Amino acid sequence: MNAEIITPTAELAQRIGATPRGAREARHLTLRQLALWGFPQEGEVSLAAQQLVAELAANAVTHGRVSGRAFELRLLLLPEGTLRIEVSDARGDRELRYVSEPEGESGRGLILVTLLARAWGVARRDVGKTVWAEIGTG
Ligand SMILES: Nc1ncnc2c1ncn2[C@@H]1O[C@H](COP(=O)(O)OP(=O)(O)O)[C@@H](O)[C@H]1O
Ligand SMILES: [Mg+2]
Repeated sequence: MNAEIITPTAELAQRIGATPRGAREARHLTLRQLALWGFPQEGEVSLAAQQLVAELAANAVTHGRVSGRAFELRLLLLPEGTLRIEVSDARGDRELRYVSEPEGESGRGLILVTLLARAWGVARRDVGKTVWAEIGTG
């Protein structure tokens, strides 16, 4: 469930196979959709959105994967200059956590998300969860 009450001016919603290939597909889809919405490929918005989608989708297909279940990518262009990214996976029984050792091999993804996103969070759903992140579009 999502308590969002702001009506998006444009939206993409796509279910994608929960594989590494699916995670790459999510990033490419984001690049294409943002280009259609008028954001240059090498521009700040497109690059930040691609990085966020790459991290959230990678997490969905590794930590959030449930065998045989797809994940879902949604991109919402909200009024007043916000792009909202939502990545939903089927796994509801795991918390997201920061890994605190800065030298560790894992745990960088959510730190990057924190740095890139204006806000982000996790919302529970009936099945699984949605990890969302928002950036400004200027
Ligand atoms: N979609 C998800 N579902 C379940 N757990 C997650 C999800 N995303 C992140 N996590 C948990 O949060 C931790 C931190 O995520 P992240 O910073 O991306 O590090 P990494 O993916 O390298 O382990 C993960 O190791 C995992 O335990
Ligand atoms: Mg990760």
